[in-house]
Amino acid sequence: MDAESKQSHVHAVFESIAPKYDMMNDVLSFRRHKAWRKFTMRKMNVQPGQSSLDLCCGTCDWTIALARESRGGRTVGLDFSRNMLDIGQAKVDKLDLGGTIELIQGNAMSLPFPDNTFDFVTIGFGLRNVPDYERVIREMRRVVKPGGKVVCLELSKPTWQPFKALYYFYFEKLLPLLGKWLVKRYEQYRWLPESLASFPDLQALAEMFRTTGLRNVRAYPLTGGVAALHIGTKGNDGA
Ligand SMILES: C[S@@+](CC[C@H](N)C(=O)[O-])C[C@H]1O[C@@H](n2cnc3c(N)ncnc32)[C@H](O)[C@@H]1O
Repeated sequence: MDAESKQSHVHAVFESIAPKYDMMNDVLSFRRHKAWRKFTMRKMNVQPGQSSLDLCCGTCDWTIALARESRGGRTVGLDFSRNMLDIGQAKVDKLDLGGTIELIQGNAMSLPFPDNTFDFVTIGFGLRNVPDYERVIREMRRVVKPGGKVVCLELSKPTWQPFKALYYFYFEKLLPLLGKWLVKRYEQYRWLPESLASFPDLQALAEMFRTTGLRNVRAYPLTGGVAALHIGTKGNDGA
C-alpha cells in the first residue's frame, strides 16, 4: 500500500470505529492497555507544569493522563480523525480540563509547532498507523525541547514460543472476527494485524529512535512483548 492509500485507509478506519473505540480497546486487549498506560506514565515521571504534545491522541485517554500529571502544564492532543477528536473533546469537557488541554486536527507527519516546544512528545498506538515511521519520530524529536523526551507506546511482536503462536492466532484470526461480531466492523479490525506486519520489532524501533538522533533510548517489552514502550531523549545541546 503506498503512503497516500495507507493514510486515507487509516483515516477511514478511525472515522468509522470512533464511537466504539474505547469499549473495543478494553475488550480486545483484555484491559491490558490500561496497565501499559500506567507503566508508561510511571516511567515518564511528568512533573507539575511540564508541557506535552500527544500525537494520534484519538479519544484522549493519554492526553488526559498527561494533563492531570502536569497539573495545569500545557497539553496538546493532535489527531487527523474528527470523529475520534470529538469523543476526546467530550471527555475533556466532562472533566473540566478545557483550560489545560487543546485538541488540534492535524497530521503527525508534519507538525504545526516550532522546534523545541514541548517537554514530552508522545504517540500511543499511533506510529504503526502512519505512512512513514521515521519521519514522524523525526518530527517528534524536532518539536521536543532539548533534554525532553520522545515516548512511543505501541503494539509489538512477541518472540517467545508457544505464547507467540497462541497470540498470533488470537490477533490475526479471532480479533477481526470479534470486530465483526461485536460492532460489525470486520475490515476495520483486520487493519490491526495488517498494520503490525510491517512495523519494526522492539530492537528495530529502538534503532530507529537512535537513527533520528535520540539518545539514551530505552525499550520495554510489555505483556510478553505484545506491546512495547520506547523512550528517547533529545540531547541537552539540542543535537
Ligand atoms: C489506535 S488509535 C490510538 C488513539 C490513542 N492514542 C490511544 O492511545 O488510545 C490511532 C489514532 O491515530 C490517528 N492517526 C493515524 N494516523 C494519523 C496521522 N497521520 N496523523 C494524525 N493522526 C493519525 C487515528 O485517527 C487514531 O485516532
